[in-house]
Amino acid sequence: MNILIVGSGGREHSLAWKIKQSPKVKEIYIAPGNGGTASLGQNIPVSVDDIPGLVALAREKNIGLVVVGPELPLVLGLSDALDRENIPCFGPGAYAAQLEGSKAFSKFLMAEAEVPTAGFKVFEDFALAEEYLKARDYPLVVKADGLAAGKGVVVATDFAEAREALHDMMVKQVFGKAGETVVIEDALQGEEASFLAFCDGHDYLLLPSSQDHKRIGENDTGPNTGGMGAYSPAPVLPQEKYEETAHQVIRPIIQHLAEMGRPFKGILYAGLMFTQYGPKVLEYNVRFGDPECQPLLMRLESDLVEIMLACVEQRLKDVTLKIRPEAGVCVVLSADGYPKQYKKGHVITGIDEAEKDSLVKVFHAGTSFDGSNILTSGGRVLGVTALGQNLQEAISRCYTAADRINFQGMYMRRDIGQKGLEKT
Ligand code: AMP
Ligand code: GLY
Repeated sequence: MNILIVGSGGREHSLAWKIKQSPKVKEIYIAPGNGGTASLGQNIPVSVDDIPGLVALAREKNIGLVVVGPELPLVLGLSDALDRENIPCFGPGAYAAQLEGSKAFSKFLMAEAEVPTAGFKVFEDFALAEEYLKARDYPLVVKADGLAAGKGVVVATDFAEAREALHDMMVKQVFGKAGETVVIEDALQGEEASFLAFCDGHDYLLLPSSQDHKRIGENDTGPNTGGMGAYSPAPVLPQEKYEETAHQVIRPIIQHLAEMGRPFKGILYAGLMFTQYGPKVLEYNVRFGDPECQPLLMRLESDLVEIMLACVEQRLKDVTLKIRPEAGVCVVLSADGYPKQYKKGHVITGIDEAEKDSLVKVFHAGTSFDGSNILTSGGRVLGVTALGQNLQEAISRCYTAADRINFQGMYMRRDIGQKGLEKT
């Protein structure tokens, strides 16, 4: 069958790379894709928020499965629109996608489904929210309800900081409509991990644990980014705890949505914090994490297309996941200045040398191909991903490969995976 992948990041390159290995696949189209996906299929310049354009493309190319990378098209109803045309889509409908698209919706659903999460209140009125902030102890967390490109969460250490965040969101409307409603949450403490599951609406299959590195600087300092690296498994969530944890954070949501007649098909991603009171859900995402997807897919032995079709056709209970025993690590190479202003258009060298090791794969994120050179075209440029017998070996292999790559202003964190090493 022909497959359409929606998105343009490192996640989508790794999806295309894994999907290409399936004997079920004829042609791969990527909308809009990047310099890496161009070598695996055909990039088509339709943007991820152009729902009618994506549906038309799927019809025109006789697509047998649409695989959606980012959350935006799901929140905008791409899965529902494809459903109306009888085109199978891996990714939930707009209702269930509110788990990511609206933090208030997500918290209310968690409360109804009795999922462990931080205490919270939802406000639509600035004055009432401000009064609440005055009465509370700190730290407190202020969150814009809607999608805010990962910038809508402020962990405030005092009233002044919390009020400023609230004012930015509700009065200055720096996130537009996304900040009209805010969620104010108790602050939790602990280590974070990502826990992802394939879901067919009723059953689920767990992927191994992983951990992202959101801050730009080493030792988790500086501003938040889209993610500077990831590794799997994350010892903070060991394999012997997967089932128990899934019963707390995955199963109740899947069951609750099924009972509401809104079955969740796709990837459910629980962002967890391991507190002294056990795991709590910080957020749900309705898609693969980026960069968690890269090491996870390198560790996945099973045919990804077969699993995705089982999700869409609701027959996941007949499928098992084969995972390679090796650890996986992804180090993101970013452009100088990211996550603020950065330059584009620099020539990238050394990717082929980095990939000479068969356990290394360089996934493109912000790149383009000008016919002869691969150029930088985004903030997160490449995700160098490697497997190893253990985490230490995977980390060493990853950095050896990363050091073979070069472009002007290249930056990477040197401590990806260290937290996992300290635990093993
Ligand atoms: P979110 O987009 O909800 O995952 O929030 C982004 C980041 O903010 C998380 O990865 C945490 O580091 C932090 N965060 C979110 N909620 C809380 C909370 N209730 N307590 C402490 N930190 C939080
Ligand atoms: N890596 C975090 C995310 O994809 O949201």
